[in-house]
Amino acid sequence: MIQENIDITQRHTFGIATQARAWGDYDSIEELREMLRYAQANDLAYMPIGEGSNLLFVRNYEGLLLHSTMTSINSIARGENEILVQAGSGWIWDEFVAHCVAQGWYGLENLSYIPGTVGASAVQNVGAYGVEACDIIESVTVLDTHTLEEHIIKATECGYGYRTSHFKKDWKGKYIVTAVTFRLSTTPQYTLDYGNLCQMVGDTPSLQSVRDAVIAIRRSKLPEPCELGSAGSFFVNPVIAREHYNKLLEQHPNMPCFEVDEQHVKVPAAWLIDHLEWKGKSLGGAMVYEKQPLVIVNTGNAKPGHVVQLAQDIAFSVFENFGIIITPEVNYIY
Ligand code: EPU
Repeated sequence: MIQENIDITQRHTFGIATQARAWGDYDSIEELREMLRYAQANDLAYMPIGEGSNLLFVRNYEGLLLHSTMTSINSIARGENEILVQAGSGWIWDEFVAHCVAQGWYGLENLSYIPGTVGASAVQNVGAYGVEACDIIESVTVLDTHTLEEHIIKATECGYGYRTSHFKKDWKGKYIVTAVTFRLSTTPQYTLDYGNLCQMVGDTPSLQSVRDAVIAIRRSKLPEPCELGSAGSFFVNPVIAREHYNKLLEQHPNMPCFEVDEQHVKVPAAWLIDHLEWKGKSLGGAMVYEKQPLVIVNTGNAKPGHVVQLAQDIAFSVFENFGIIITPEVNYIY
């Protein structure tokens, strides 16, 4: 079940040459338990990995990577218009979205074509085009890595926020997500207020037309992981004090923002980076993507250091020019 000393270059979307001490595919909770017992007995570090679409391996991984291949799916109607859909953590995210769209279940279509897995979606709280995973997650099924017991945690207890959750912070290492239950609608409900999504789908949207529009937007802006390595958005969009933003507006009247609350706004990091003319700039094999400067791509032979250095240089220039600290969305794995 466990493969040792393997090349994981193609098992994370940055495609940077990396080795791992061990890799385990598990297809059941019992297999996952066995792998955890093995790692703990051998004093081996371990970490769950999905499609590896949000990771930067800074060096070879000296531990066991735990990869779910659990793709069960169960659904149960709740009330007249709602359906609860529980999916195993190993589902490829977009295959799961496509399945729900085909069934006529509303709620996931704006999250089409996001790389990754169902398990990771609940950790990362993936989001796009006005919808976040936590808007539709009902509960998360997890295995406690110490007691090896399963628990179901309600979404309201998971500490969800913009691209964050307790799984990423206070609960890091405590749980491994084994399944996620989504609350979807069986009657039409669309979120079309982001950018030109509404125009693209026209007056008579359908689940499939929204999915197609989202895929078309993503394809036009973001690199295809199979063609050009990246980990999607490299930085999160910074939330800053409204006062700070108003000051910046005096010098940069076109600087966009999204409302957060009375005291705060969120500024698109892509705008800040674009404004400083980083698009297309490279360092070794790492380059700022020309169509979306929030993305750092591997042009073929990137070393982890190239990406780390380029990201630091970008963050430094944003800070120097705007007094804003931008932080990586990508998880650095040591
Ligand atoms: N912008 C520029 N220049 C560019 C691109 C964008 O100035 O070349 C500015 C524009 O003002 C634009 C704004 O940035 O309106 C926002 O751009 P975009 O709509 O592409 O979204 P984003 O904020 O850069 C976020 C997510 C993406 C998600 C999109 C769409 C984060 C960190 N990223 O990007 O998620 O697909 O919104 O909802 O929140 C990911 O997490 O990997 C990811 C791709």
